[in-house]
Amino acid sequence: MSWQQKPFSIDVKAGETLYLCGCGQSKNGPYCDGTHKTVGGKPFAESFTEDKKIHVCGCGKSGGKPYCDGSHKA
Ligand code: FES
Repeated sequence: MSWQQKPFSIDVKAGETLYLCGCGQSKNGPYCDGTHKTVGGKPFAESFTEDKKIHVCGCGKSGGKPYCDGSHKA
C-alpha cells in the first residue's frame, strides 16, 4: 500500500497488534516500515480485542491519528 487521500479500511482480528506509521514517511503506508528511525517519530502500536474494521488515516491530516477523522474531505 501507499499513502492516499482517503482512509485505509483494514479488517483486524482479536489479539492482533498493528504498527501504524506515525511519521508519515513510510513507503508502505499506513504501516510502519522503519523509516522513522532516520526521520524521527515513532509508530502507533494498536492492539485489538475484537474482530472489526478500522479506518486509518491515509491523507496525513487527521486530528485523531492513526484513525481517520474525516479531515480528508476538507
Ligand atoms: S515508518 Fe513512520 S513511524 Fe515507522
